[in-house]
Amino acid sequence: MQPDVKLADPAKRSMLLTALYIAQEQYGYLTKDAIERVANRLDLTVSDVYSMASFYTLYRTKATGRYVLQVCEGLSCHLVGGADRLVDYLCKKLRIKVGQTTEDGLFTLQTVQCLASCGTSPAMRVNDALYENMTAEKVDELLETLRGYHV
Ligand code: FES
Repeated sequence: MQPDVKLADPAKRSMLLTALYIAQEQYGYLTKDAIERVANRLDLTVSDVYSMASFYTLYRTKATGRYVLQVCEGLSCHLVGGADRLVDYLCKKLRIKVGQTTEDGLFTLQTVQCLASCGTSPAMRVNDALYENMTAEKVDELLETLRGYHV
């Protein structure tokens, strides 16, 4: 399917990306309603808005936990042995598989391709924040910190 001709306009695309970000902050993720509202506001089709939302890993189109842990599985992270090791560690630590959310609703684990932090791999992102040179110890500290906000 061809994208809406309006999305060829860089200013329109920029507005769309910003609107999606704001909607995600308000709704927690990009619900069907959120996508329809953004489409209506920017005079775009729901299909084009959804296509854009599902293309970028920054956007969530499904319900997630409070913290979305995205482990990079890109080449640089893979070559330093980080990706598989971190994913395995997080799966064991959180008792979930990739794509799942912990029972307490705090953490969702995902894998993504390149977080643009290849020089400091292995990298992972938690919501909007990037974490570099990750180790099991750093993961432990990070999870402890995040859980500390909810005791
Ligand atoms: S490959 Fe992991 S940050 Fe680029």
